[in-house]
Amino acid sequence: MAQSKGKKAKTVAVIGLGYVGLPLAVRAKERGYAVIGFDTNQEKIALLQKGKSPIKDDFLEENLPQHRFEATSDPKKLRAADIILICVPTPVDEMFYPDLTPVISAATIAATYAKKGALVVLESTVNPGVSEEVVKPIFEKAGFTVGKDIYLAHCPERINPGDKKWNVTNIPRVVGSFDAAGLELAHDFYASIVDGEIRKMKSIREAEAVKIVENSFRDINIAFVNELARSFDVLGIDVKDVIQGAATKPFAFMAHYPACGVGGHCIPVDPYYLIERAKQSGFDHKFLKIAREINNSMPVYTVELLQDALNTVKLPLNGTHVGVLGLAYKANIDDVRESPAFKVIEQLEKHHAAVATFDPYIKSRSTAKSLDALLKKSQALVLVTDHQAFKETLTPALLKKHGIKVIIDGKNCLDKQAFIKAGIIYKGIGR
Ligand SMILES: NC(=O)c1ccc[n+]([C@@H]2O[C@H](COP(=O)([O-])OP(=O)(O)OC[C@H]3O[C@@H](n4cnc5c(N)ncnc54)[C@H](O)[C@@H]3O)[C@@H](O)[C@H]2O)c1
Repeated sequence: MAQSKGKKAKTVAVIGLGYVGLPLAVRAKERGYAVIGFDTNQEKIALLQKGKSPIKDDFLEENLPQHRFEATSDPKKLRAADIILICVPTPVDEMFYPDLTPVISAATIAATYAKKGALVVLESTVNPGVSEEVVKPIFEKAGFTVGKDIYLAHCPERINPGDKKWNVTNIPRVVGSFDAAGLELAHDFYASIVDGEIRKMKSIREAEAVKIVENSFRDINIAFVNELARSFDVLGIDVKDVIQGAATKPFAFMAHYPACGVGGHCIPVDPYYLIERAKQSGFDHKFLKIAREINNSMPVYTVELLQDALNTVKLPLNGTHVGVLGLAYKANIDDVRESPAFKVIEQLEKHHAAVATFDPYIKSRSTAKSLDALLKKSQALVLVTDHQAFKETLTPALLKKHGIKVIIDGKNCLDKQAFIKAGIIYKGIGR
């Protein structure tokens, strides 16, 4: 339901203009809301004020120019908002402990400037309990009575950057609140911007738990196939073929594939939020911890595969020129957060390999200027990201032309037989 004609448009403020907040701001604008985007990153705001997207994303590149909104780093602008959406990061620190600093800071800003009667929705991924134990007290301390003069809700974001089919316009959502009025307000807002089901959860904790369950489900399933990859490698079975075989079963199986690591701001991070919160209440999440351990071990395993492959052509890892293909954590995007590429590079450097990198989406952080330049100086390759450009270009003939003897396919995305037939040592993850 878009804003009705003749009525003054409600104002939506989005705090945190990243992969989550930006598409939301654009979508709310498209649906007739007055939109204010607030971010503490001045560079981002400066780019947005020029109508440029700070993120390389097809949806934003297509929609941002048509639905420009007011981008600001002035928190006072939030006073105009009827609805405030908090979309700030929820990272973990180097010891994997949840870091709620951005959520606390954003909630404090919202509580300082929100007007009476506003709806404030936390979209950031959090463990069950954060809305109640962290966010609500901030608003109470600022003098609000929740459910009376401020409405708090949680609607965990599910966006999948780079996804051509599912985006902010059509991904179904779940919402939870502390009270019936907050739930209704949140439901109606999301129903006005999303063409998909908006499921009302019975409590805000349930809504928080939904998102952590979704991403932990992914993490555990990926850990399972990563373990299978390592086992099947020993047994001489191609794990990709087996998973594709199992996927012919039309029920009770969902294909997940192994890789050189799990990256992104969600899957390798979110399970720690539940692990830590459950621990505080006396529960030990063994399964989630093992999944994290297995997935965190994959970059080291990948470099071990390279070491073994180099041994067969009598090359030591020490001093060998290794080209790393891709820095992004997944295909066709420019997001490097938690990317296994950096763990792979760290391992290679630890063994004194001469490392060069190239990512067509992240040229500023690549050491080589082009794919060709990278291939020219490489004796071996590790493919970390299955960018379309790599899949289309990397052929056995091209590797032979550059005298490259070994390739580790960290995403199992290349034609294994073609490389082997050409006399190149090909090794995938479990194949
Ligand atoms: N990226 C994804 O694919 C994805 C998908 C679903 C859910 N999420 C969740 O959504 C949340 C946001 O993720 P993201 O990927 O958009 O992060 P991001 O890093 O891309 O963007 C967050 C933005 O918030 C800004 N920010 C940080 N603290 C702030 C503050 N106090 N006030 C104002 N702005 C502030 C940052 O400058 C940044 O621009 C996280 O909880 C994440 O887990 C992310």
